Amino acid sequence: MRLDVVSIFPDYLSPLRLSLIGRAQEKGLLDLRVHDLRDWTHDRHRTVDDTPYGGGAGMVMKPEPWGEALEAVLGERPCSASEPDAASSDVPEPEASAGDAPEDCMPEGSSSAGAAGPVLIVPSPAGEVFTQAVARELAAEDHLVFACGRYEGIDQRVIDWAGERARVRMMSIGDYVLNGGEVAVMVMVEAIARLLPGVIGNPESLDEESHEDGLLEYPVYTKPAEWRGREVPPVLLSGDHGRVARWRRDERLRRTARVRPDLLAALPEEALDRRDREV
Ligand code: ADE
Repeated sequence: MRLDVVSIFPDYLSPLRLSLIGRAQEKGLLDLRVHDLRDWTHDRHRTVDDTPYGGGAGMVMKPEPWGEALEAVLGERPCSASEPDAASSDVPEPEASAGDAPEDCMPEGSSSAGAAGPVLIVPSPAGEVFTQAVARELAAEDHLVFACGRYEGIDQRVIDWAGERARVRMMSIGDYVLNGGEVAVMVMVEAIARLLPGVIGNPESLDEESHEDGLLEYPVYTKPAEWRGREVPPVLLSGDHGRVARWRRDERLRRTARVRPDLLAALPEEALDRRDREV
C-alpha cells in the first residue's frame, strides 16, 4: 500500500518510522512518503495561510500550495510540470518530497494507482467518524493520500476540486478538537496499516479485538497466577477451552454493557444468541 502525507510539519509524522509500522515499511509492505506542503509555495516566506473571507478568528490554509501538492501526490501532474521551488527554501529538505520521486509525475494516459485511484483523506473534526470498519475499508485500497490541515482548516475549494479527481473523505478521529491533522493521521495510519497482511506477526490476534465485531475485548492476564493478593480468574487455569471461550465472551458482553451500551444497542439482532442474552 502506498501512503502519502502532506503537512507543514513533516517531522510530526516521524514516529511512523518506529515499531511495527516502521518494520512494515522496511519489509516493503507499506510505502509511506511524507511531504512538506511548503515545497509547493513560491514566495520567500513559503506562505501557506491567509485571513478568512467573511472575517473571524484564525487563519485559513491557502488553496494554491494545496492544489499543486495534491496534483503531485494524487498523480494528476503531467511530467512536464515544474518541480516545487526547492531553491527558495531555507529549511532542510523533508525526508521525501513529491518532487524527488520520478513516479510522482505521471505520463499522459497512465495510472499509478489501483483502478479506482487514490482516496484523499482530510482529517477534520467536522468529518465522518473514523471507526474500525472504516479502517478495514481503507486497508483494502492501494493508495491513500492524507492532507493535514492546520489553523482553521483548508480552503473548501481545494476539497471540492479534489473531489472531482479522487474519492475524498473528511475524517474525524473523535469528538474533540486537535491543533491539526497530523496526530489524527498517525492514528488512522496505525489503525489501517496493522490490518495489512504481514504487518502483525500473528494475525489471529486481530480476531477478538475491541471493535472488530462490535464488542469490546475481554480482560487479559499473564504469570504469575497470584500478584499482590490478586488471583487470575481460576477458569483461565482450568485448561478447559470451552469454558475459557464462554468466560471470555461473557466478559466481553459485560464490559461492553457497562462502558459502551451504545455499541451493544447497535448490534444486529443475530449477533447475540440466547445464551448471550442471559449474561
Ligand atoms: N483535526 C482537528 N481535530 C480533529 C479530529 N478530532 N479528528 C480529525 N482531525 C482533526
